[in-house]
Amino acid sequence: MRNAFLAAAIVGVISIGTAAAEPYPSRTITMVVPFAAGGPTDTVARIIGERMGRALGQTIIIENVTGAAGSIGVGRVARAAPDGYTLSIGHWSTHVVNGAIYPLTYDLLKDFDPISLLPSNPQLIVARKGIPANDLKELIAWVKQNQDKITGGTAGAGSASHIGEIYFQQFTGTSFTFVPYRGTGPAMLDLVAGHLDIMCDQSSNSLPQVRAGQVKAYAVTAPKRLAAAPEIPTVDEAGLPGFYISVWHGLWVPHGTPPDVIAKLAAAVRESLADPEVQKRFADLGQEIPPVEQQTPEGLHAHQKAEIEKWWPIIKAAGIKAE
Ligand code: MLT
Repeated sequence: MRNAFLAAAIVGVISIGTAAAEPYPSRTITMVVPFAAGGPTDTVARIIGERMGRALGQTIIIENVTGAAGSIGVGRVARAAPDGYTLSIGHWSTHVVNGAIYPLTYDLLKDFDPISLLPSNPQLIVARKGIPANDLKELIAWVKQNQDKITGGTAGAGSASHIGEIYFQQFTGTSFTFVPYRGTGPAMLDLVAGHLDIMCDQSSNSLPQVRAGQVKAYAVTAPKRLAAAPEIPTVDEAGLPGFYISVWHGLWVPHGTPPDVIAKLAAAVRESLADPEVQKRFADLGQEIPPVEQQTPEGLHAHQKAEIEKWWPIIKAAGIKAE
């Protein structure tokens, strides 16, 4: 019995030794997208994940773990093994705003190690195409006249779309009913189908539908027009000056991931973002690639920390509650 135990222990030590010696990555990597498939976070994940997989010599698969404005999917990664095989892609609302709204079981800074900042995009103020308003001023007037009947699609309390629509209401002195979805991918489908009236949604999700004539775009929430859609006016030009929202993305791993694994992942992100094909795909969606010095763990950490310090007091003062 004692010998059998000893033999099993030796086998265990040998297999741990083999695993430790395996070069990273030696198997498929999972990137957890905390929102529904087909939406903006999913789109960023699929573009960068496919190219990073080529840089790393392994496939990166996307797993959509949805609910509670992304806080469930992010929590899944917080509890995953810190071995570089489970990645958390998220953005301004999942890795900043949610910490001020949800009673999270993880710490957004301490339970993750940053890999790199990823592209950012503004939102578009969009509405279903049957709405009579021809410009933003007319849209605001129409919302004011019909606000008890109007619905706005969101990806849940605290999501970027929800915060955008709350600010829209505050800026315009209007109020309408929020309808939460597991991401703005499915919400956009309902806007196209005419089941929703309005959304503040990331340009990467809205632009394809705007181009296809399926929804109407009224303004971009940025001080500059998008190179990918120069016909859409800025909020300043359209009558809502200063209504700026920019949704930046980032990539994290569970805290405690070995430094050499983090370095390999960060290098794969840099290689991917330097690829002209990837740059073109992001540019077509209105996504702006961060400067190279921010495509680093330090760059993402500094940006996320500064955003937490800036936004938590604002979000807490606004009294936004988890659903
Ligand atoms: C999504 O991927 O569905 C979005 O990022 C949701 C949002 O925050 O508006």
